[in-house]
Amino acid sequence: MDNTLELHSLRRDYTLNSLDEAIVSSNPFEQFQRWFSEAQASGVLEPNAMTLATATSSGIPSARVVLLKGMDEHGFMFATNYESRKGEELLANPYAALLFFWGDMQRQIRIEGTVEKVSKEESDNYFKSRPRESRIGAWASKQSKKVEGREQLEEEYSAMTMKFENQEIPLPEFWGGFRVVPVMFEFWQGRANRLHDRICYRLIDDIWEIERLYP
Ligand SMILES: Cc1cc2nc3c(=O)[nH]c(=O)nc-3n(C[C@H](O)[C@H](O)[C@H](O)COP(=O)(O)O)c2cc1C
Repeated sequence: MDNTLELHSLRRDYTLNSLDEAIVSSNPFEQFQRWFSEAQASGVLEPNAMTLATATSSGIPSARVVLLKGMDEHGFMFATNYESRKGEELLANPYAALLFFWGDMQRQIRIEGTVEKVSKEESDNYFKSRPRESRIGAWASKQSKKVEGREQLEEEYSAMTMKFENQEIPLPEFWGGFRVVPVMFEFWQGRANRLHDRICYRLIDDIWEIERLYP
């Protein structure tokens, strides 16, 4: 069997839009909100899905998609199992990168920063907003550990459903939010001839400095 993929001819020119130092907001959070609203309005599928990159203390990287569940001037919040692979990596090495790719808009946003656990109260508020089935699912999953088949997972889900029958489902100790507190944002807009726009914000002495990068 020939396993090679014909990739060289996959080529697209980007001509939808542009990004300019003169029009971006001086505040990267506000710029993020502008682009996020535009992604929502243009019907991007799950615009809040973002790639989260973490690393072990010895620098071995890993990446996966998670959902952005909150954003304000303090940072970007997502929820997960603290004992998962990403959870353990973040607790040992609290730095992360986030990446949004909105292909239909020919846009990418990169964010880098430090990571903190959100307060129990904030995790609890978010947990309570989830559908009951998802809350049971959080209890039933030892995320990232080996499971002996699909059946085992479904049995554990049923056991948790019975355990919490007619009860409120409490926030598990092992589950909650992390917040990425940015020190860097980059807004990338695809342009013709690979001469893309890249506008980068860096937090230097509490001030967001803006620069354009070569594509
Ligand atoms: C669209 C999408 C959304 C996801 N959202 C989350 C999420 O919000 N939290 C989460 O823990 N995992 C989420 N996942 C699953 C993760 O990608 C990943 O499989 C899981 O968290 C285990 O990662 P880890 O073993 O690196 O910790 C999502 C996956 C996809 C494809």
